[in-house]
Amino acid sequence: MIRFDILTLFPEMFQSPLASSVLKKAIDRGIIRVSVFNIRDFTMDKHRVVDDSPYGGGSGMVMKAEPIVEGIERLKSTNGSPRVILMTPQGVPFDHSQAKRLSQYDHLLFVCGRYEGVDERVREYVDEEVSIGDYILMGGELAVMVVIDAVSRFVPGVLGSEESVVEESFVNALLEYPQYTRPLVFKGKRVPEVLISGDHHQITHWRRREALKRTFIRRPDLLEKVNLSEGDLALLEEIKGEEGKARDN
Ligand code: 6GU
Repeated sequence: MIRFDILTLFPEMFQSPLASSVLKKAIDRGIIRVSVFNIRDFTMDKHRVVDDSPYGGGSGMVMKAEPIVEGIERLKSTNGSPRVILMTPQGVPFDHSQAKRLSQYDHLLFVCGRYEGVDERVREYVDEEVSIGDYILMGGELAVMVVIDAVSRFVPGVLGSEESVVEESFVNALLEYPQYTRPLVFKGKRVPEVLISGDHHQITHWRRREALKRTFIRRPDLLEKVNLSEGDLALLEEIKGEEGKARDN
């Protein structure tokens, strides 16, 4: 069981992703627990103000420190001792190994930034900052959903045993091989003959080769990280030869 708490100005953004598919099932089974809190509920002024203009001038609004810090502290005092994570494009880039690392905690508290940022003094109350990539989102809400989805895949019981095997793929750092299902012929395109041959040795070989080829073409950077067997290296040389020829044509 892992707990995810979320501090956000837009709690409604979390409803449908958590009410669908694998995450819903995991929540229903009590394997993960997600609680969403509105930052506005931690304001103490009459108008429940959550943002203000930046000192020093400039456009846009900055999220005020008090409601966020009040939220963090209240959730800490009533809800245990979560790892506090600020979602911001300035954070550490999120990837497979970060997802795996975060899945080791039993309680995470995400703070969603919005607008042009949060008051710098909030940073003293967070343990780490996470970004999901080099682009700017309207806020951290969708980023939190991405992180919860990816982290949950590492929590025992969330995935079936069959899906868990697929999890190996990014550890292995190769892209997936092409998949096919019925019909055998779709708009004149036939499923590769090897896949209906019944020769499992051949099928395994073909899939490995296609995975290597796809990775070589689309994400050669991943090949640097992966442990390749002698057989893989030989296949890769073949593939490089073929692709070189294909380019020359
Ligand atoms: Cl965590 N927040 C925002 N606002 N933009 C992002 C992001 C987070 N990660 C990438 N872009």
